[in-house]
Amino acid sequence: HEEIIFTRGTTTAINIVASSYGMEHVEEGDEIVVTYLEHHANLIPWQQVAKRKKAKLKYVDLTADGRVTVEAVEAQLSDRTKIVAMAHVSNVLGTINPIKEVARLAHARGAVMVVDAAQSAPHQRIDVTDLDCDFLAFSAHKMCGPTGVGVLYGKKALLNAMEPVEFGGEMIDYVGLEESTFKPSPYRFEAGTPIIAGAVGLSAAIDFLEEIGLENVEAHERELAQYAMAQMRDIDGLTIYGPEERVGLVTFNLGDVHAHDVATVLDMQGIAVRAGHHCAQPLMRWLGASSTARASFYLYNTKEEVDALVTGLRQTKEYFSHGF
Ligand SMILES: Cc1ncc(COP(=O)(O)O)c(C=O)c1O
Repeated sequence: HEEIIFTRGTTTAINIVASSYGMEHVEEGDEIVVTYLEHHANLIPWQQVAKRKKAKLKYVDLTADGRVTVEAVEAQLSDRTKIVAMAHVSNVLGTINPIKEVARLAHARGAVMVVDAAQSAPHQRIDVTDLDCDFLAFSAHKMCGPTGVGVLYGKKALLNAMEPVEFGGEMIDYVGLEESTFKPSPYRFEAGTPIIAGAVGLSAAIDFLEEIGLENVEAHERELAQYAMAQMRDIDGLTIYGPEERVGLVTFNLGDVHAHDVATVLDMQGIAVRAGHHCAQPLMRWLGASSTARASFYLYNTKEEVDALVTGLRQTKEYFSHGF
């Protein structure tokens, strides 16, 4: 429990690492390595650290189909690398990143490995010891839990050596008039009344997912994504983004119909997809798209729903081909 800090979500968790570890360890001329597929939550905190510390933000190139290779990461590492921050799974492309290998490379350079697991924790079993990452963050609301709660995992020795970012009740040890001392992790990062209701809700969500089995969840949604892609490829003018090997999501564009129009017409048929830049503007530019639509699957989705999506997409195409 000393390595699990309850936060407001992935964003807050990564901001804690950036504001504390990042601000303490990154110096002028140092380097922070990220990739082009990061969600803004795992990008802007590092931009801020780099800006304030006059450090350099380096971007790992993606392969043509949107994968991060170990070689591409290695090409960006140097003895000035202090932090490697990377999504475990891309929320846009469904790419699964080689975290374990990257963590090994980061450590060889004396850097720490920060993992944004917002899109992996809900869908697959994660073993932080096996990955050997230093920090890992996820949110409850993406895994059947409530909003307003998430987790920052960090290695105990690192957490206890870091300065707290919020101060107040619960996190103190001795309070003097001018100076105070702070409790060890997790308390030093949980100032104020803890997120009690959120943690109880997250715990129930984890029990629920464990009962179903995360392996079953993962297999089910991967099957749905492959089933969807096989049919979507037959729709003329539809572009699917991302690699073949992916988790349970399909990001696409339907010819030159704007993603928001696709989403609106699908919505009228009771089908919810997400449209926009998906909080990943650098990735959108890399894809050469201003926005995309994304169908994502979870344990409750069915093949019949995928069929409805495909029918809906065909109707959407028809609808816009008549000059609406
Ligand atoms: C990959 C990824 N990282 C981070 C986040 C941010 O999560 P939250 O808004 O719960 O802090 C998201 C949310 O969409 C995400 O998909």
